[in-house]
Amino acid sequence: MAGLFITMEGADGAGKSTQIGKLKNYLSNKGYDIILCREPGGTKISEDIRTIILNPEYEEMGNMTELMLYASARAQLVEQVIRPALDAGKVVICDRFIDSSAVYQGIARGMGVDLVYEVNKFAIGETMPKVTILLDVKGGTGISRKKEQAELDRIEREAMDFHERVSQGYRDLAARYPERIHRIDGTGSIEEIHEQIVAIIDQQFQ
Ligand code: ADP
Ligand code: TYD
Repeated sequence: MAGLFITMEGADGAGKSTQIGKLKNYLSNKGYDIILCREPGGTKISEDIRTIILNPEYEEMGNMTELMLYASARAQLVEQVIRPALDAGKVVICDRFIDSSAVYQGIARGMGVDLVYEVNKFAIGETMPKVTILLDVKGGTGISRKKEQAELDRIEREAMDFHERVSQGYRDLAARYPERIHRIDGTGSIEEIHEQIVAIIDQQFQ
């Protein structure tokens, strides 16, 4: 039996990990077998690639290098974790996936969404999410939440107009794929957002 592949997307600090934790509890209580992962990361190799990508010292990193490093981390995660879990009938919830590359590299860095999907086809093959939740916040909202927590990484240190392009880019992408990408207002309360996510995910099991 094929499992269900869910991805959570949104700007930095939009509330993705908070909502993934709550969704995991909800689905586990219903008896589903859940695998959580995050991007870039989720395997030893992918986590090592993550430390290179996000290292604030690497200011000189080129856009193509960045795009391909994200795709490499993704290829390993798909092969080692996501595909086997889906083949075993599990529910996979991934914190970011290909749409993050489409928005951050394709739109905010200006490389083009089509190029990003083209490169990522080699990394993921047919393994696309069945449903994607977009937590929609303004660029500044997420970053100011993040600043209260920890040191900002290489991407989080980008100028505010970059984060605005990310937020707008996500809205444009959701408009392009309305059947798969469900946009939710990320400025509501944690509980309100959780209820909306549950309503969307429950439909997938009907
Ligand atoms: P992300 O995984 O998208 O970066 P997090 O879930 O880590 O975001 O949330 C970033 C910060 O914002 C955390 O301190 C979290 O407690 C807080 N937060 C999450 N959801 C909300 C919300 N709906 N309203 C206000 N603060 C939130
Ligand atoms: P992470 O800390 O996981 O995200 P968040 O700040 O939302 O908790 O950091 C991952 C960073 O990498 C984040 O700034 C988004 C960026 N990113 C891309 O630019 N392209 C991608 O394909 C992915 C997966 C992430």
